[in-house]
Amino acid sequence: MSVLELNHPLIEHKLSILRDKNTGTKEFRELISEISCFLCYEAMRNAKLKKTEIETPLEKIEIGRLEEDKYAFIPILRAGMGMLDGIINVVPNAKIGHIGMYRNEKTFEPVNYFFKVPNEIEKREVFLLDPMLATGGSACDAIALLKEKGVKAINFLCLIAAPEGIKRVEQEHPDVKIYCAHIDEKLNKNKYICPGLGDAGDRIFGTK
Ligand code: PRP
Ligand code: URA
Repeated sequence: MSVLELNHPLIEHKLSILRDKNTGTKEFRELISEISCFLCYEAMRNAKLKKTEIETPLEKIEIGRLEEDKYAFIPILRAGMGMLDGIINVVPNAKIGHIGMYRNEKTFEPVNYFFKVPNEIEKREVFLLDPMLATGGSACDAIALLKEKGVKAINFLCLIAAPEGIKRVEQEHPDVKIYCAHIDEKLNKNKYICPGLGDAGDRIFGTK
């Protein structure tokens, strides 16, 4: 299976506040950050550790350490930025990139307007961040841009995924693993995820 859905009462609880239309910007941002930490925790479950010798106050031991800078976290602008804060709290030395995408309001096709990723990106494992996987257009284009740069290990972390978006990523990029907090029912006629949480970017940045 290329999709892992976090299935936990704590996540459902946090999503219930996040989805609520009466939840304000501050709490919305905090929750996106918190849930992103849990996604990162799950997505890094099989991360390889480097054996390192350290000395506790009692004795020497060999213990695994994460080579944090081998990983790149890349938010898809704008809304993906909301996920970054929580993640860099737990993997502070990871490399950060940015991919700018917006969905054309009429065609719903993604438009790429910015691309800046860490050097030697092809040697790093990449975690793409975007709270919403709707039609999957933005995710697929961002993944394709990374593959053009030679990236081989790509994970996609999102909060809410629509079945349509999952299907599209699975078809176009079967090698990419998707981690999501919840898989919702469907897209509406405006390609918004239902029940969803509305426009993630607008709710994070208070733009509407
Ligand atoms: C939203 C969201 C994804 C995209 C998902 O971004 O953050 O990037 O839509 O839709 P898709 O799966 O159908 O491509 P939006 O275009 O609203 O831009 P924003 O983050 O700047 O608000
Ligand atoms: N983008 C969002 O922010 N929300 C959706 O439901 C779909 C795309």
